[in-house]
Amino acid sequence: MDLKLKGKVAMVAASSKGLGYGIAEALAQEGASLSIGSRTEKEIETVAEKLRRETGISVLANVLDSSNPQSIQKWTDATIKEFKGIDKLVINAGGPPAGKFEDFSDEDWQEAFELNLFSAIRMIRATLPSMRKRGGGCVLTVTSMSVKEPIDVLILSNVMRSGVTSLVKSLSAQLASDNIRLNNLMPGRINTDRIRSLDSMNSEKMGVSIEQIQEASYNNIPMGRYGTIEEFGRCGAFLLSDAASYITGSSLAVDGGALKTVW
Ligand SMILES: NC(=O)c1ccc[n+]([C@@H]2O[C@H](COP(=O)([O-])OP(=O)(O)OC[C@H]3O[C@@H](n4cnc5c(N)ncnc54)[C@H](OP(=O)(O)O)[C@@H]3O)[C@@H](O)[C@H]2O)c1
Repeated sequence: MDLKLKGKVAMVAASSKGLGYGIAEALAQEGASLSIGSRTEKEIETVAEKLRRETGISVLANVLDSSNPQSIQKWTDATIKEFKGIDKLVINAGGPPAGKFEDFSDEDWQEAFELNLFSAIRMIRATLPSMRKRGGGCVLTVTSMSVKEPIDVLILSNVMRSGVTSLVKSLSAQLASDNIRLNNLMPGRINTDRIRSLDSMNSEKMGVSIEQIQEASYNNIPMGRYGTIEEFGRCGAFLLSDAASYITGSSLAVDGGALKTVW
């Protein structure tokens, strides 16, 4: 199947490692031109060089803070200057801190809003004119399976990602006539630094080994393991491609069967 991603211009936020990197790598393997961004300059430059070397594609490395409006605008402007337009946008960022309702102040809620929901609004707003000008485009967000099954200790994440899902659903109807599709990927537990650090935090808190924590997690996943960033990235490339041309406003779970809901 030809995904028809060759030569398409894709912006991928929060992509020096983890889920964002997985999507960037899959797009690079399909021949897309990339504009990648994250906060640490050295790490994003290193990843850009690796992708250029391994796939021969053009990669623009950017310092990006997804929670900062000026940074998003700068990233968008630099991408348009380099590649003359934008076809695909991947919205991603770090995750908000874990904790329960009474642990968080107004400031914590505001920060989570800027990082995980307002970032999506701002990135779509910044890139829309270019997608329209090119006759269409595609947006993909990274949310979480917690949208369907809230996770007890991740209340900030649960709430913001539900907002993103609603934003995407609303815009999918408004922008279909502009040939712009928007979808979400809902990771379950994909083996990234964030998951490793959450497991290590729990192992310290509960006084058991990290292997015991992982084993307990695996027992809640029908496939009995965490996903890989490659498996996650391939799903992203599919939803961003013409192979998914009739899919918009949808959320795809990449969770090894962990979600217990029917829909
Ligand atoms: N992994 C999972 O199974 C899973 C499940 C559910 C939800 N999620 C969510 O998916 C997102 C990505 O998670 P991950 O597991 O890939 O995390 P990760 O392995 O820690 O990678 C995070 C990436 O995002 C970048 N980043 C962090 N904050 C940023 C910001 N404000 N602006 C721009 N880039 C930023 C990091 O680079 P810098 O630090 O240099 O910026 C890094 O490249 C998070 O929101 C997480 O909560 C992950």
